[in-house]
Amino acid sequence: MKYPAIKFENVWKIYKLGEVEVPALRGLSIEIEEGEHIAMMGPSGSGKSTFLHLAGALDRPTRGRVLIEGRDPSRLSDGELSALRNRLIGFVFQTFNLIPRLTALQNVMLPLMVRGVNGEERLRRAREALERVGLAHRMNHKPTELSGGEQQRVAIARAIVTNPRIVLADEPTGNLDSVSAGEVVELLTKLNRELGVTLVVVTHNPETAAPARRIVRIRDGVIYEEN
Ligand SMILES: Nc1ncnc2c1ncn2[C@@H]1O[C@H](COP(=O)(O)OP(=O)(O)OP(=O)(O)O)[C@@H](O)[C@H]1O
Ligand SMILES: [Mg+2]
Repeated sequence: MKYPAIKFENVWKIYKLGEVEVPALRGLSIEIEEGEHIAMMGPSGSGKSTFLHLAGALDRPTRGRVLIEGRDPSRLSDGELSALRNRLIGFVFQTFNLIPRLTALQNVMLPLMVRGVNGEERLRRAREALERVGLAHRMNHKPTELSGGEQQRVAIARAIVTNPRIVLADEPTGNLDSVSAGEVVELLTKLNRELGVTLVVVTHNPETAAPARRIVRIRDGVIYEEN
């Protein structure tokens, strides 16, 4: 039996700030098949990051159900949950989130250390991931010694070094000039086409969304249009 990569069934997420309730998702439903490349667009505050956090099992819904490859993260033990996140999902963020005092290579090796992969294999796979993003010549640079576009490519290498089946990108081109943005979008698109990674990109930017085969629009925590 084959499950969708990600499925949301009437998902509500209500943040509580003291007495105040902030509904970020209001009954959102969607099914994302394995291998899809989907872009989610919507204005600031519409719930895009909230959606990605739930899709990546970083947070849980207030109501409704999230299924990741058929599994409900809220029913997993802590150990199973971190295994799911670590094996299945790669995250890419607007601000890259690299560790400043580590080199590109060390940053990319990090998720493999968490998984207990041995030193030699860690090195081999991290190098391979950096080659894939075109940064073989920048492995020993620290983040401050790299351009924004290069930093984001390192972050993508870090996201894919574990061979995730799903990559979730939150405004991955938000801090980049248009040339670097174009390169990052092309790279993400290639991962989807060549490796079959399910790719979900959240963005304001029509050019970042353009290569996606499916574009959904979100407003006030629900999807109101799809094409
Ligand atoms: N941790 C939180 N606590 C309380 N409210 C939150 C929290 N995170 C998000 N929100 C609120 O939930 C709503 C959706 O936020 P979210 O970050 O998902 O929007 P977004 O679409 O990603 O916006 P942006 O494009 O600005 O990143 C907003 O109204 C926001 O203020
Ligand atoms: Mg956001």
